[in-house]
Amino acid sequence: MKRIEFHDREKETEEIHGILDSEPSLITFVYGPINSGKTTLINNLIGQLPEEYAPFYINLRGRFITGYEDFLNVLFEIDEGSATDNIGEYAQSFLKDLKILSGIPIPLNLFEQIFEKKDKSKDMFKYIERFFTEMSEKRVPVLIVDELQVIGDMKIDGHLVYKLFNFFVRLTKELHLAHVFVVTSDSLFLEQVYSEAMLSERCKYLLADDFDYGTTIAFLDRYGFDMHEKEIAWHYVGGKPVSLVRLINEKRSEKEIEDVAASMLKLRTGEIRQRIRVLKIVNKKILFEKEEMELKYDDVTKILDKFSDEESYTYEMITPEITYLVKENILFVDPVNCIIKPQSHLNLLAIREVLKNV
Ligand SMILES: Nc1ncnc2c1ncn2[C@@H]1O[C@H](COP(=O)(O)OP(=O)(O)OP(=O)(O)O)[C@@H](O)[C@H]1O
Ligand SMILES: [Mg+2]
Repeated sequence: MKRIEFHDREKETEEIHGILDSEPSLITFVYGPINSGKTTLINNLIGQLPEEYAPFYINLRGRFITGYEDFLNVLFEIDEGSATDNIGEYAQSFLKDLKILSGIPIPLNLFEQIFEKKDKSKDMFKYIERFFTEMSEKRVPVLIVDELQVIGDMKIDGHLVYKLFNFFVRLTKELHLAHVFVVTSDSLFLEQVYSEAMLSERCKYLLADDFDYGTTIAFLDRYGFDMHEKEIAWHYVGGKPVSLVRLINEKRSEKEIEDVAASMLKLRTGEIRQRIRVLKIVNKKILFEKEEMELKYDDVTKILDKFSDEESYTYEMITPEITYLVKENILFVDPVNCIIKPQSHLNLLAIREVLKNV
């Protein structure tokens, strides 16, 4: 099997190392458009962390979470072989050869105790805090939660996500006990987070965007693209890592890059056209600030029209139409820089195609 090597991300990696070098004090949100390489960046980084760190990587993607029980099962890695009340000794036992853990280890008996409690969140946070404290004498815990928006709307005695944020603030700003990274490609979720008073001055935001031109060309260089092929790739898919990987693989199977890229554009154009045209025949409503708002075809195309000669624009306010286009994965909102742009360069070209005959 021919692999594709991890490419670049020097700037982002350096920034994260800078965060890890100092005492934990802020929650770091790693955000960016869909498929920009956020998860790959984080995984590459934690795979190379020095021994003084203890990374815990929890990915909520694809996990079916409907209540606390499910969430506890994702958050913890239940250790069926252990039964102990001594969290100190238990945490120490992980220090010898710690791998990247995809959950916080917990002996079965303690997990069951939390499970039985009425206020589960209090006890689960207490356990994690204790576990990290015991561990922190030798290693700095690094907690990473990928796709946190999965539990964004979940309510059990109030929003679970806010309880988590409170806990993350405790781990970072108050106790300086663990580094916390939250990764998300849901820009509407991030926008909520960004305007959340509880989190103001307690977070840091790190944009992991698609590759820029130089990085893209250097990436394709490694896989034998000639100048013409590189320009074609950049013209169609820009610096979207997932699409570049697709083109690299297609080239390996001796396909014509231009044909593949053109068919990717055709497909995406059709999809976007469908999502827009459908508004002409159905009265679609969207939940916006807790109100049901009707979406009008003309208002939605007006937003898209801004991209007929710009690649991005600065917004004043997120409207229901923008919300719809973001939910449909057509546009990306960057609330930190107040910028709206298509999710990818391919989306930009597809939008322009759609606009040709609205
Ligand atoms: N730095 C990189 N070097 C090489 N390939 C990369 C790199 N970053 C991403 N990729 C490729 O792009 C694909 C998508 O990346 P990844 O899943 O990390 O994106 P993401 O931003 O986490 O996506 P999502 O928005 O779905 O969470 C990866 O499977 C990998 O093939
Ligand atoms: Mg991801």
